[in-house]
Amino acid sequence: MKTPTMRLDRLLANLGYGSRREVGFMVAGGLVVRDGVRLRDPSERLPITADMPEHIRVGAAPIDPPAPLTLVLHKPLGVVCSHKEPGRSVYELLPERWRRRDPVLSTIGRLDAETSGLLLITDDGALLHRVISPRNHVTKRYLATLDRPLRGDEGAAFAAGDLVLEGETDPLAPAVLEPLSPTTAWLTITEGRYHQVRRMFAAVGNHVVALNRDRIGGLDLEAGLAPGDFRVAAADDLAAIFAAPAAA
Ligand code: URA
Repeated sequence: MKTPTMRLDRLLANLGYGSRREVGFMVAGGLVVRDGVRLRDPSERLPITADMPEHIRVGAAPIDPPAPLTLVLHKPLGVVCSHKEPGRSVYELLPERWRRRDPVLSTIGRLDAETSGLLLITDDGALLHRVISPRNHVTKRYLATLDRPLRGDEGAAFAAGDLVLEGETDPLAPAVLEPLSPTTAWLTITEGRYHQVRRMFAAVGNHVVALNRDRIGGLDLEAGLAPGDFRVAAADDLAAIFAAPAAA
């Protein structure tokens, strides 16, 4: 496939560095350097490649990664996944300029404010749809801490494929419960209905007191990524989302 190219001023504006006019001044001022050479022409077309940050600097720092960009983020408790909800949003965990990127970054699905764990953020609409489409059966695994001990029949209720959540008419797809202790369990689901895990446990007479997502498809939240931290997803992370999880 031919490498796409873009004018330098358009690229910088799309990455949120400023308006076309502002970034034009930055370039004319010698702030953009490629492999040690100042780029002075805002209209120069550059090939858009994932390794641009290794070659191009804007001021003292590597240029931001160009689109398509996907981030692996460890969502902390207490932040929301939407721009519209009140409260601090996950987008505030990213560099401020990234809120002005075009194409925009969006979360792939949502976690509640009171749920922590693995969250993907992307500007790649096709990837987003591939991950959330129920047809692709991408699994999501949650560690649920429960208010009351499991009775023992919850796994069968979740696996049956006929559980209907309160206020809904469509039964849930089968889900897999793996108890870890009387009050903790992994629950693996393939859908993303509103507050799904909390409502599933409510449907079997329990209550979730803490919830963390640690896996999407075959992609695990790594121990080294602290709450609030993120990293740029590599090609093998994207492949892992659509691969089977590693055997326990
Ligand atoms: N299920 C929930 O109840 N909450 C989440 O954040 C995700 C799944």
